[in-house]
Amino acid sequence: MARRLTGRQVKPRAAAWRPLSDNAGYADHEGRLFALRLLNDRHVPLPIVPSLPTKPMRTYRHSLKTLRDVALAHTLEKNPDLASLARELGGIIHRDMRALADGLSDLRNHNRGFERWLVGRRGRPGVSVLVMAWPPGYTTPSHDHSGLWGIELSLYGALEVESWSRASTAQPWQLRGRDWLGPGDATWFDADMPYMHRCRNLSRQETALTLHVYGGDLDDYTTYEQIEAEPFWQSQPQRARIAGPLRV
Ligand SMILES: [Fe+2]
Repeated sequence: MARRLTGRQVKPRAAAWRPLSDNAGYADHEGRLFALRLLNDRHVPLPIVPSLPTKPMRTYRHSLKTLRDVALAHTLEKNPDLASLARELGGIIHRDMRALADGLSDLRNHNRGFERWLVGRRGRPGVSVLVMAWPPGYTTPSHDHSGLWGIELSLYGALEVESWSRASTAQPWQLRGRDWLGPGDATWFDADMPYMHRCRNLSRQETALTLHVYGGDLDDYTTYEQIEAEPFWQSQPQRARIAGPLRV
Protein backbone atom coordinates (compact mmCIF):
# COMPACT_ATOMS: atom_id res chain seq x y z
CA MET A 1 0.00 0.00 0.00
CA ALA A 2 1.31 3.45 -0.86
CA ARG A 3 2.37 5.57 2.11
CA ARG A 4 1.04 9.06 2.49
CA LEU A 5 2.66 11.96 4.20
CA THR A 6 0.41 13.09 7.01
CA GLY A 7 2.46 15.96 8.41
CA ARG A 8 0.95 19.38 8.96
CA GLN A 9 0.76 21.30 5.68
CA VAL A 10 2.87 24.45 5.89
CA LYS A 11 1.99 27.29 3.58
CA PRO A 12 5.23 28.70 2.11
CA ARG A 13 6.09 32.21 3.22
CA ALA A 14 6.41 34.93 0.61
CA ALA A 15 9.91 34.96 -0.84
CA ALA A 16 12.08 37.66 0.68
CA TRP A 17 14.52 38.33 -2.16
CA ARG A 18 17.30 40.81 -1.94
CA PRO A 19 20.30 41.13 -4.19
CA LEU A 20 23.78 40.57 -2.88
CA SER A 21 26.91 42.31 -4.13
CA ASP A 22 28.03 41.95 -7.78
CA ASN A 23 30.66 39.32 -7.03
CA ALA A 24 28.27 36.93 -5.25
CA GLY A 25 28.07 34.18 -7.83
CA TYR A 26 29.65 31.00 -9.13
CA ALA A 27 30.08 29.11 -12.39
CA ASP A 28 29.07 25.50 -13.02
CA HIS A 29 31.20 22.97 -14.95
CA GLU A 30 29.99 24.35 -18.30
CA GLY A 31 31.00 27.88 -17.39
CA ARG A 32 27.42 29.10 -16.84
CA LEU A 33 27.25 31.75 -14.19
CA PHE A 34 24.80 31.60 -11.35
CA ALA A 35 24.07 34.33 -8.82
CA LEU A 36 23.49 33.76 -5.14
CA ARG A 37 20.57 35.58 -3.60
CA LEU A 38 19.16 35.42 -0.13
CA LEU A 39 15.84 33.61 0.25
CA ASN A 40 14.54 33.45 3.81
CA ASP A 41 18.16 33.39 5.05
CA ARG A 42 19.11 30.49 2.76
CA HIS A 43 21.39 30.86 -0.25
CA VAL A 44 19.86 29.47 -3.42
CA PRO A 45 21.23 29.62 -6.99
CA LEU A 46 19.43 31.63 -9.66
CA PRO A 47 20.48 31.66 -13.34
CA ILE A 48 21.74 35.07 -14.43
CA VAL A 49 20.09 36.47 -17.56
CA PRO A 50 22.13 35.66 -20.71
CA SER A 51 22.94 39.30 -21.55
CA LEU A 52 25.31 39.59 -18.57
CA PRO A 53 29.02 38.88 -19.23
CA THR A 54 30.00 35.26 -18.60
CA LYS A 55 33.27 33.84 -17.34
CA PRO A 56 35.46 32.57 -20.22
CA MET A 57 35.93 28.80 -20.57
CA ARG A 58 39.22 27.44 -19.31
CA THR A 59 41.56 26.47 -22.13
CA TYR A 60 42.65 22.85 -22.38
CA ARG A 61 46.26 23.98 -21.85
CA HIS A 62 45.31 25.65 -18.60
CA SER A 63 43.46 22.49 -17.60
CA LEU A 64 46.36 20.17 -18.50
CA LYS A 65 48.78 22.45 -16.65
CA THR A 66 46.52 22.31 -13.58
CA LEU A 67 46.37 18.50 -13.82
CA ARG A 68 50.18 18.32 -14.08
CA ASP A 69 50.74 20.76 -11.20
CA VAL A 70 48.24 18.96 -8.94
CA ALA A 71 49.92 15.63 -9.75
CA LEU A 72 53.38 17.03 -8.92
CA ALA A 73 52.19 18.77 -5.75
CA HIS A 74 50.53 15.64 -4.34
CA THR A 75 53.43 13.30 -4.97
CA LEU A 76 56.22 14.70 -2.81
CA GLU A 77 56.19 11.62 -0.57
CA LYS A 78 57.51 8.22 -1.55
CA ASN A 79 54.07 6.60 -1.17
CA PRO A 80 51.50 9.32 -1.96
CA ASP A 81 47.78 9.04 -1.18
CA LEU A 82 46.66 7.79 -4.58
CA ALA A 83 42.94 7.78 -3.74
CA SER A 84 43.05 11.50 -2.83
CA LEU A 85 45.09 12.35 -5.90
CA ALA A 86 42.69 10.39 -8.12
CA ARG A 87 39.77 12.33 -6.62
CA GLU A 88 41.51 15.69 -7.19
CA LEU A 89 42.42 14.90 -10.78
CA GLY A 90 38.99 13.42 -11.50
CA GLY A 91 37.28 16.59 -10.23
CA ILE A 92 39.35 18.78 -12.57
CA ILE A 93 38.63 16.50 -15.54
CA HIS A 94 34.89 16.55 -14.76
CA ARG A 95 34.97 20.35 -14.57
CA ASP A 96 37.00 20.88 -17.77
CA MET A 97 35.73 17.90 -19.78
CA ARG A 98 34.54 19.92 -22.74
CA ALA A 99 37.65 22.13 -23.00
CA LEU A 100 39.90 19.05 -22.84
CA ALA A 101 37.90 17.19 -25.50
CA ASP A 102 37.91 20.19 -27.86
CA GLY A 103 41.50 21.26 -27.21
CA LEU A 104 42.90 17.76 -27.67
CA SER A 105 40.91 17.07 -30.84
CA ASP A 106 44.15 16.81 -32.88
CA LEU A 107 45.21 13.83 -30.79
CA ARG A 108 41.76 12.31 -31.19
CA ASN A 109 41.69 12.73 -34.97
CA HIS A 110 45.12 12.06 -36.37
CA ASN A 111 44.86 8.23 -36.28
CA ARG A 112 48.52 7.41 -35.77
CA GLY A 113 47.93 4.42 -33.54
CA PHE A 114 48.47 4.14 -29.80
CA GLU A 115 50.63 7.04 -28.56
CA ARG A 116 52.12 8.34 -25.30
CA TRP A 117 52.66 12.09 -24.89
CA LEU A 118 54.71 13.56 -22.03
CA VAL A 119 53.00 16.40 -20.10
CA GLY A 120 55.58 16.73 -17.30
CA ARG A 121 58.04 14.90 -15.08
CA ARG A 122 60.14 15.31 -11.93
CA GLY A 123 63.34 13.52 -10.93
CA ARG A 124 63.12 13.19 -7.13
CA PRO A 125 60.79 11.84 -6.00
CA GLY A 126 60.19 10.51 -9.48
CA VAL A 127 56.91 11.38 -11.21
CA SER A 128 55.83 11.40 -14.84
CA VAL A 129 52.56 12.72 -16.24
CA LEU A 130 51.42 11.52 -19.67
CA VAL A 131 48.46 11.71 -22.02
CA MET A 132 47.80 8.60 -24.10
CA ALA A 133 45.73 8.27 -27.29
CA TRP A 134 43.85 5.00 -27.87
CA PRO A 135 42.60 4.21 -31.40
CA PRO A 136 39.05 2.77 -31.65
CA GLY A 137 38.93 -0.72 -30.08
CA TYR A 138 42.67 -0.69 -29.23
CA THR A 139 43.63 -3.20 -26.52
CA THR A 140 46.97 -3.35 -24.73
CA PRO A 141 48.58 -6.65 -23.85
CA SER A 142 48.44 -7.43 -20.11
CA HIS A 143 51.33 -5.37 -18.73
CA ASP A 144 53.00 -4.33 -15.48
CA HIS A 145 54.46 -0.89 -14.65
CA SER A 146 57.96 -1.89 -13.53
CA GLY A 147 57.00 -1.73 -9.85
CA LEU A 148 56.00 1.97 -10.01
CA TRP A 149 52.80 3.27 -8.44
CA GLY A 150 50.35 4.69 -10.96
CA ILE A 151 47.01 6.39 -11.57
CA GLU A 152 45.20 6.18 -14.90
CA LEU A 153 42.13 8.32 -15.70
CA SER A 154 39.94 8.72 -18.74
CA LEU A 155 40.03 12.21 -20.29
CA TYR A 156 37.79 11.44 -23.26
CA GLY A 157 35.90 8.27 -24.11
CA ALA A 158 35.65 5.08 -22.08
CA LEU A 159 38.28 2.52 -21.16
CA GLU A 160 37.90 -1.02 -19.84
CA VAL A 161 40.59 -2.08 -17.35
CA GLU A 162 41.08 -5.74 -16.33
CA SER A 163 43.42 -6.11 -13.34
CA TRP A 164 45.49 -8.98 -11.95
CA SER A 165 47.68 -9.24 -8.87
CA ARG A 166 49.75 -11.92 -7.15
CA ALA A 167 51.41 -12.30 -3.78
CA SER A 168 54.88 -12.91 -5.26
CA THR A 169 56.51 -13.66 -8.59
CA ALA A 170 56.35 -17.38 -7.69
CA GLN A 171 52.55 -17.22 -7.36
CA PRO A 172 50.03 -17.37 -10.24
CA TRP A 173 48.28 -14.14 -11.32
CA GLN A 174 44.78 -13.70 -9.87
CA LEU A 175 42.13 -11.70 -11.71
CA ARG A 176 41.15 -8.81 -9.39
CA GLY A 177 38.34 -7.32 -11.40
CA ARG A 178 37.21 -5.29 -14.35
CA ASP A 179 36.49 -1.54 -14.33
CA TRP A 180 34.95 0.78 -16.87
CA LEU A 181 36.31 4.32 -16.77
CA GLY A 182 34.46 7.33 -18.20
CA PRO A 183 35.93 10.87 -18.18
CA GLY A 184 37.23 11.66 -14.69
CA ASP A 185 37.08 8.03 -13.49
CA ALA A 186 40.35 6.50 -12.28
CA THR A 187 42.11 3.26 -11.52
CA TRP A 188 45.31 3.16 -9.45
CA PHE A 189 47.91 0.72 -8.11
CA ASP A 190 50.62 0.88 -5.46
CA ALA A 191 54.36 0.49 -5.95
CA ASP A 192 56.08 -2.84 -5.44
CA MET A 193 52.85 -4.86 -5.36
CA PRO A 194 52.87 -7.35 -8.26
CA TYR A 195 50.13 -5.90 -10.43
CA MET A 196 49.25 -5.87 -14.12
CA HIS A 197 46.31 -4.84 -16.23
CA ARG A 198 44.95 -4.94 -19.75
CA CYS A 199 43.18 -1.83 -21.07
CA ARG A 200 40.79 -1.49 -24.00
CA ASN A 201 39.16 1.49 -25.69
CA LEU A 202 35.48 0.53 -25.51
CA SER A 203 34.56 2.60 -28.59
CA ARG A 204 34.81 1.13 -32.10
CA GLN A 205 34.48 4.60 -33.64
CA GLU A 206 36.34 7.12 -31.51
CA THR A 207 39.87 7.56 -30.17
CA ALA A 208 39.95 7.65 -26.37
CA LEU A 209 42.34 9.87 -24.37
CA THR A 210 43.68 9.09 -20.91
CA LEU A 211 45.84 10.79 -18.29
CA HIS A 212 48.54 8.75 -16.52
CA VAL A 213 50.60 9.65 -13.47
CA TYR A 214 53.42 7.26 -12.51
CA GLY A 215 55.92 7.26 -9.65
CA GLY A 216 58.88 7.67 -12.02
CA ASP A 217 59.75 7.30 -15.70
CA LEU A 218 58.12 4.21 -17.16
CA ASP A 219 60.82 3.49 -19.75
CA ASP A 220 60.67 -0.29 -19.53
CA TYR A 221 57.90 -2.63 -18.59
CA THR A 222 56.82 -6.23 -19.16
CA THR A 223 53.90 -7.66 -21.12
CA TYR A 224 52.32 -11.02 -20.27
CA GLU A 225 50.54 -13.44 -22.58
CA GLN A 226 48.30 -16.18 -21.23
CA ILE A 227 49.28 -19.70 -22.37
CA GLU A 228 47.75 -23.16 -21.87
CA ALA A 229 50.58 -24.85 -19.94
CA GLU A 230 52.52 -23.86 -16.82
CA PRO A 231 53.52 -21.17 -15.91
CA PHE A 232 50.34 -20.02 -17.80
CA TRP A 233 51.79 -16.56 -18.53
CA GLN A 234 54.66 -15.82 -20.89
CA SER A 235 56.49 -12.54 -20.24
CA GLN A 236 58.19 -10.21 -22.70
CA PRO A 237 60.27 -7.08 -21.89
CA GLN A 238 59.13 -3.89 -23.66
CA ARG A 239 60.32 -0.29 -24.20
CA ALA A 240 57.76 2.51 -23.69
CA ARG A 241 58.07 4.92 -26.62
CA ILE A 242 57.16 8.59 -26.09
CA ALA A 243 55.70 10.36 -29.17
CA GLY A 244 56.84 13.76 -27.85
CA PRO A 245 56.18 16.48 -25.30
CA LEU A 246 52.67 17.91 -25.01
CA ARG A 247 52.99 21.68 -24.51
CA VAL A 248 50.89 23.19 -21.71
FE1 LIG B 1 48.91 0.61 -17.69
